[in-house]
Amino acid sequence: MAEQPQAIYLKDYQVPAYLIDETELHFSLGEDHTEVRSVLKMRRNPESTASSAALELHGHESLELCRLAIDGRELGAGDYRREDETLGIDQVPEAFTLECLTRIRPRDNTALEGLYLSDGMYCTQCEAEGFRRITFYLDRPDVMSVFTTTVEADAARYPVLLSNGNPVARGSDEDKGRHWVTWQDPFPKPAYLFALVAGDLAHIERPYSTASGREVMLRIYAERKDLDKLDHAMDSLVKAMRWDEEVYGREYDLDIYMIVAVDFFNMGAMENKGLNIFNTSCVLASPETTTDGAFQRVEGVVAHEYFHNWSGNRVTCRDWFQLSLKEGFTVFRDAEFSADMNSRTVKRVEDVTLLRTAQFAEDAGPMAHPVRPASFIEISNFYTLTVYEKGAEVVRMIHTLLGPELFRKGSDLYFERHDGQAVTTDDFVRAMEEVSGRDLTQFRRWYDQAGTPRLEVSDDYDADSGRYRLHLAQSCPATPGQEQKLPFHIPVTLGLLGPDGRDLILDNGDTSCVLELTDSSQTFTFEGIAARPVPSLLRGFSAPVKLQYPLDRQTLVFLMSHDSDGFNRWDAGQRLAIDVIGELMAQHNAGEPMRLDAALTDAFAAVLDDESLDPAMVAKVLTLPSEAYLSELADCIDVDAIHAARQFAKKALAQALAERFERRYRALAPQQAYAPDAAQVARRSLRNLCLSYLVALETPEYLALAQAQYDSADNMTDRQSALSLIAHSGATDAAAAVLDDFYRRYADQTLVVNQWLSVQAGDPRPGALDRVKELMQHEAFDLRNPNKVRSLISVFCNLNAVNFHAADGSGYDFLAERIIDMNRRNPQMASRLLTPLTRWRKYDAARQALMQSQLRRILDSGELSKDVYEVVSKSLA
Ligand code: PHE
Ligand code: ZN
Repeated sequence: MAEQPQAIYLKDYQVPAYLIDETELHFSLGEDHTEVRSVLKMRRNPESTASSAALELHGHESLELCRLAIDGRELGAGDYRREDETLGIDQVPEAFTLECLTRIRPRDNTALEGLYLSDGMYCTQCEAEGFRRITFYLDRPDVMSVFTTTVEADAARYPVLLSNGNPVARGSDEDKGRHWVTWQDPFPKPAYLFALVAGDLAHIERPYSTASGREVMLRIYAERKDLDKLDHAMDSLVKAMRWDEEVYGREYDLDIYMIVAVDFFNMGAMENKGLNIFNTSCVLASPETTTDGAFQRVEGVVAHEYFHNWSGNRVTCRDWFQLSLKEGFTVFRDAEFSADMNSRTVKRVEDVTLLRTAQFAEDAGPMAHPVRPASFIEISNFYTLTVYEKGAEVVRMIHTLLGPELFRKGSDLYFERHDGQAVTTDDFVRAMEEVSGRDLTQFRRWYDQAGTPRLEVSDDYDADSGRYRLHLAQSCPATPGQEQKLPFHIPVTLGLLGPDGRDLILDNGDTSCVLELTDSSQTFTFEGIAARPVPSLLRGFSAPVKLQYPLDRQTLVFLMSHDSDGFNRWDAGQRLAIDVIGELMAQHNAGEPMRLDAALTDAFAAVLDDESLDPAMVAKVLTLPSEAYLSELADCIDVDAIHAARQFAKKALAQALAERFERRYRALAPQQAYAPDAAQVARRSLRNLCLSYLVALETPEYLALAQAQYDSADNMTDRQSALSLIAHSGATDAAAAVLDDFYRRYADQTLVVNQWLSVQAGDPRPGALDRVKELMQHEAFDLRNPNKVRSLISVFCNLNAVNFHAADGSGYDFLAERIIDMNRRNPQMASRLLTPLTRWRKYDAARQALMQSQLRRILDSGELSKDVYEVVSKSLA
């Protein structure tokens, strides 16, 4: 590579030298080329200390500059400097109008950043730095401007023309067959929130009146064929709007709120002001084509993007190091929303599972970074689990420390004080400090220090004095660039269970209290305790740490059945299963026959028999920890032993409890027409889990049961779980037949076909890689479509460990090839595909060598995007 990309640093932040008060854009859309005219009202930033009068605009190398003028005077080639990523003008006045005419080529845009075509419609993606692929601009979030946008296009092919804000004028040129619409967005915004859509779109709409009585029109746009799949998103939007009024006192502020579904999208969805653009996978839903999990995902993502209107748009980020300011807070907000709409404990279990599996792994790998990173080469690489999920945990800890009332006061102060501003995570914490009178100086380390803290706990009890003591110690492993860590401020929510399993009443008069660990080790004393208690630590997962408190299996079973905290009851079951599976792995590796501890069987039986429990929670408790989580817990990942032991445990549990599984399976049969409501979702989740155990027995009888469910299902949840059970079973003919049938039924439903790809990519049996390669040639596959790449390639590399990590290195070779190819088409996708290779240090020496050599091969493959270069070079460092 000619020049290696350079990192940029938070410490180098400087306010912009110029501001853009008004932005006027005119798009003349054409597939081959689109012309963008911009008129920018600019002035020198009074807060800037820069001494020169030079202006430097961002502009991607793909921009073709056709005309540039200042205050009406056209500039010649000698009047400006065009570099790869910038356009510099040496002398500009204090205040001036900059006009620019730029040509871009949406059809050639495979990176899906800036303006591109998705299935024949134009759309944009500007976060984080995509606007500079549209025109020359100050493309940074602290430059906020009022936008007026005219979109002009062929009237027949692009009848719908959208941009941010409200439509204020429209017209047409009948002779040329073109028409135009002008949109005005009164709220100043950074360029990353700009959006434009043009296409032949259908929509549904619904009026909404806000708490204060303003009338708003809600519209959701999609291709006509998907018009019947928009109602759930609309219901979710209305719920989210109501919830934000009630819980945060936040109302919507424009006259229209639009969502557009597009098929080609790098991420889940984007919160552009008044014009959200969504990946179809996060907005379309119908019972026939969408699983329960996907229904809930739509609800959560619609809410997430809506909540950004305040946490992100009205108050935005000063710079991209502050990304978690909007993302961490908004994920916290959407998680609380989903908890209120569905089951709070189930939602918490799901979020913690994701955090502990994937974020902890990120924190332990070469890309580990703080919630507020100190540097980056490519910001797109920092839309991570750390910034989003751990960022949300940090906000949750503030909520825990302050309590709900003060937290709400803090968020009110934050929104009021910073409305219309671009601010920092520090500003957020300061608002929380001011309303509570608390000093969160030490707490801020959660934003600055990477890595997952370890929380070690021991205890002692003295019967004579009735004194119980808990000793808490914390430490945090080194991460790249951070050898030593200072102690964190860790809220540990705690309960004490008496011998009868009931919560003791603690000094605060309650059954739970929050211990605040701030030193590297501290002892907490409880007096007047009549018998040795069992501590229930970190209730609700009150801090994103690794808890080390060894408990014997008997105590885990005790907690599983008695802990008043639902999350910890589930967690005790997980710990028990992890312990038992660990024992099986040891037996497997010693060449001994594996034998499952009856403690696990008995505990599962008790949970299965208790019909008073929420079926959704029962399903969670009975779900064995995933291979990915077992891998995260291991020092050196033994792919095959993990798979063998987990499969064995599943089958042994099925053998021991077959009758119970079958009884509950039958008892949970659907009683009503399908609805994706919490009660039905709960029943289906447990019923399908029971079926998965039964099919693990591989008997013709239970395979037939799965086949019957597949054939008679009236919804995608039941059909798809039966499909994957049969497809992954040893019954080769049945597997081929059911996959065939599924494809024929749904060939015209892109998102369903993607599930079909995933089921095959996730097949743990031998031969999966060949199948994946074949599927890449299938008509249903398209390398340009990120959803398809994720469904097939990412699923194989991330969720099919035994095949991806095949000892011959074939999986690694395959992935490296895909990345080298994808690097040219779509750098963001290429970079995200790299994740499994970055984890090479966790494997045995032979696999380490194979993985490293593929990383080197990628590094040496030629012109790497910044995205890929950053991840590969950091992985090899
Ligand atoms: N800001 C979007 C969200 O949270 C995510 C996103 C980032 C989408 C970058 C596109 C590009 O919801
Ligand atoms: Zn977001």
